[in-house]
Parts: sequence; C-alpha cells; structure tokens
Amino acid sequence: MMEVGRQCLRDGGLRIHRIMAGNAEKVKHLLELHKASTHPSLWQADLNEEGSFDDAIQGCIGVFHVASPMTTIQDVQNEMINPKVNGVLDIMRACTKAKTVKRFIYTSTTGTITVGPEPLPLEYDESFWTDVDYCKAQKMTAWYKKISEYLNLIKMMEGGEKGTVCVTGASGFIGSWLVMKLLQRGYYVHATVRDPGNVEKVKHLLELPKASTHLSLWRADLKEEGSFDDAIQGCIGVFHVASPMDISTQDAQNEVIDPTVNGVLDIMRACTKAKTVKRFIYTSTTGTITVGPEPLPLEYDESFWTDVDYCKAQKMTAWMYFIAKTTAEKAAWEFAKEKGLDVVTIQPPVVVGPFVTPSLPPSAKLVLAVLTGTSEILRCLGEEAGCNLLARGRAVHVDDLCDAHIYLFEHPEAKGRYICSSHCFNIIELARSLSLKYSEYNIPTKFEGVDESLKPIPCSSRKLLDLGYKFKYNSEEYDIGDLCSGAIESCKEKGLMPSPGAT
Ligand SMILES: NC(=O)c1ccc[n+]([C@@H]2O[C@H](COP(=O)([O-])OP(=O)(O)OC[C@H]3O[C@@H](n4cnc5c(N)ncnc54)[C@H](OP(=O)(O)O)[C@@H]3O)[C@@H](O)[C@H]2O)c1
Repeated sequence: MMEVGRQCLRDGGLRIHRIMAGNAEKVKHLLELHKASTHPSLWQADLNEEGSFDDAIQGCIGVFHVASPMTTIQDVQNEMINPKVNGVLDIMRACTKAKTVKRFIYTSTTGTITVGPEPLPLEYDESFWTDVDYCKAQKMTAWYKKISEYLNLIKMMEGGEKGTVCVTGASGFIGSWLVMKLLQRGYYVHATVRDPGNVEKVKHLLELPKASTHLSLWRADLKEEGSFDDAIQGCIGVFHVASPMDISTQDAQNEVIDPTVNGVLDIMRACTKAKTVKRFIYTSTTGTITVGPEPLPLEYDESFWTDVDYCKAQKMTAWMYFIAKTTAEKAAWEFAKEKGLDVVTIQPPVVVGPFVTPSLPPSAKLVLAVLTGTSEILRCLGEEAGCNLLARGRAVHVDDLCDAHIYLFEHPEAKGRYICSSHCFNIIELARSLSLKYSEYNIPTKFEGVDESLKPIPCSSRKLLDLGYKFKYNSEEYDIGDLCSGAIESCKEKGLMPSPGAT
C-alpha cells in the first residue's frame, strides 16, 4: 500500500510507503505515529520528477494519490497545472509497471464539478464537470487548481489504462472477441494460445487495434501442467475461455474431459501462485445447467446443474462436452472455496454474431445451413441434438457475452454463477427472419424432424440483469435473425458465403 501525503490508514495494519519530498521538520509527525516504527517507510518523490514514484509503488497493492501542489504561486502553468496533470499520469504509469496495484485511489475535489456559469443546478452529482474555459476567463480564486484537477481526471479517463489481464483460448471465436473488447477498454492482454508461431491461427489477434502496444501472446496448453503460470504472472484478472471443443472425438476422456477439468484447476493454481489476480472469470455454458431427464422445468436458473450420470447413460450429441464442463465448473467452485480465490462463472447458450477468426464458428455454420437447407442443418449439428436445439434454441450475441465478462470482472459485487442468455428461438423464427433479410436465398420454411410444438424453456438472466447489466442486443429490440445476421456479414467480408441456390 502506498500513500502519497499524510497518514490515513493509521490502525489498518497495512504497511505504508509514504512519499515526501521534504525535510525532517516535515516528516517528524509521521515518524511519531502509532506503529510507525514497524509499518511505515518514507520514500523521496516529486510530482515534477518523472519516474520518481516508481520505487515506492513497486510491490504495493494500492496507491492513494493525495499529493498536490497547494502553495500560492506565480507561474500557474509550471508550478500548478503541469505538476498536477503530469504527476498523476506518472504515478498511474508506475502503477501499471508495478503490476501489483489492485486499485488507484485519487483524491480529487468538488472543484472539478461545481464551477461554471449560471444558471446553476439545484443539485450537483458526479455527472457534472467544471467549465475550464470559464475558469480561464473568470480567473476566480484558485482558478488554476480547478483546471488542473479537471485535466487530471479527463486524462485519467481518456488514458483508460486498466492493468493486465490474461485470456486463455484467445485465438477462438469468443476469446478473440473478448481480447478485442479488453484492448478497446484500455487493458493490457496476455493472450494464451497453443502455438503462437502458427500465423494462420494468431494473425487475426495481432491485427486487432492496439495489439502492437497492448497485446502479447503466450504459449500454454490445458494438457501441460504449469504451462499457464508465466502468462498469468502479474495479471489482475484471468478470463478462462479455452476449452477442447472436439465433440466427434473417439477418446472423450483424454481429449475432452481430462484437459477441461485438469486445465481449470491448473489455471486456478497459477492464479493463487501469482498473488496479483483479483478475480478469475470462467466461461462455462448453459450445458452445465440444462441437461437432464424429464420432467423439465418451466425455466432454468443458476441453481440447476446438468445430470452427469444421465449424460453418461444417454450419450447424446456432445455428451462428453456436457460432462467435462459440468465437472470442471464444480471442481472450480470447490477450489475457490478451499483457497479463497474470487471466482465468477458465466453460462452462455449458443453464442451468435460476427467473428474475427479466419474460420467459421459453429453458430455461423448453423446460420449458413439455414440459408442453404435443412439436410445441411441436421448434418452439421447431429440429428437428435440438432432437432432439439432448433426447436428449443437459446442464444446470446457475442458482443453482449464479452461485455458481460468484463462487467462481471469489474463489478465489485459480482459473485457466483451468471446465466447470460438474451433470446429463446426456434428454427422457424430464425428462418422467417433471415428470409426477410436475405430474400436472394431460397430459405426453407418446413423443417423435417423438428418438433414445432416443443415449448421453449428459457434460461433466466435475471441475476445478471439485477446486477445492472443491460443487453445491447435485447429481445425487445432485436429478433433472432438480427442477432445472427452479424455472422452473415462476417462471412461476406471474408468471402465465406455460399452462393444463392447452393444446397
Ligand atoms: N460458441 C458457443 O456457442 C459457446 C456456447 C457456450 C459456451 N461456450 C464456451 O466458450 C468457450 C469458447 O468457445 P468458442 O466458441 O470460442 O470455441 P473455439 O472457437 O473452438 O475456441 C476454443 C479455444 O480453446 C482453445 N483450446 C482448445 N483445446 C485447448 C488445449 N488443450 N489447451 C489450450 N487451449 C485449448 C483453442 O485454442 P487453440 O487456438 O490453441 O486451438 C481455442 O482458442 C468455451 O469454454 C466454450 O465451452 C461457447
């Protein structure tokens, strides 16, 4: 913990690195404080000297930035505005360099909120900003202070640098979209892939905006114990997205179940070893919730768990995936309880929308299959699961899913499992909506083998919505065709569209 300024954590038991540029006269009262002989240390640093806070911040879990030039001055720009604005940025850079700082607390002032011309409001809240041009024009008492505080906050918000996070399975459909969104938000990203040298599989990541400065690739494999340790070192968050997805494998135990279960535990061990990770976000699936014998409920929520014995007995399409993800998520919760790691898990249904990967994600294959005919749909999904899914589908847009990942990482009160599902649909609705949008395709309206009488069983996102998350692609404004059309647009851009009339 580092405090720039005077003691405020007197009896908190925290070790404090205080920074003072002054002399014995100015620090004596600090050295005389309770616990001062064992807990504090003083560090020389000055807002006017770039890099001078680095040593004090190294190894700290938090930084309270209280220091500010407060004296009466002649040269406003050089003695007040520049040190304030450059100083806060220098300290924030030191925080990101240290990689240990969980939160930066900046003591601002209502002077960044309340100064402006009439008419004045009845009440101020955090949405108000002081009018800098007005301060310059009016030159009221301490006008320069108000400007520099304002500029500080604007730069902090625009700079948007938020620390380093790790994303596993970064090359995949959801992983790459999540990396793109994290870079947009100002995070540094350690992206794990199995083969960083495989240009074909990582080129789309390296071409993302901000990748040249904010992204690094790390080699890691769910089958190799300890291989995620280096990528996770120094990260404040880990998004575990990677998962073996080969549901046609002949060796379910070794190819899907073991790497999924052992992998999540290995990554969680890496998080506790790193000591910097404040939350572990695991991309689970509604497949850990909805698979079980009849009678089925009217609605699913996070209290439901897939019945692993039923999956073993039935061996339905993707049975090993349901077993792997359900067992892995349960193991993750056990680990979290035992080791006290902060964990959030997210359960999406079918994830649809545009993609940055070079190859087609499964949901894009489904959408293309609807454009070209039912036999193709059933071939790509497998008879039984395909019919069931297409009569009782649930979906979420990839952009909403990735936003929800970041929302749940950043929200201080996020806790437990969160279903992230915005739509229920069946194949008829999807086909109707797509036929209106893409009339050049002869889209079928009859679907052999699909039981139209099946009632949808929603997976409720109530818990996520109650936490304040809002779906951008919500079911009030967007139908299932709107959600899926992003995939078609991506296919067009990448030259992956079948020609109209293809079956
Ligand atoms: N797509 C959906 O509709 C959907 C729905 C619900 C839940 N999910 C969950 O979302 C996550 C991502 O799915 P996705 O659709 O993005 O799948 P995807 O495109 O197939 O990506 C899967 C990723 O996992 C990585 N991976 C596979 N085996 C690995 C191993 N042994 N070691 C390390 N990495 C490995 C792959 O990395 P390489 O590049 O190294 O091959 C790939 O980047 C999964 O956890 C899945 O369960 C997806």
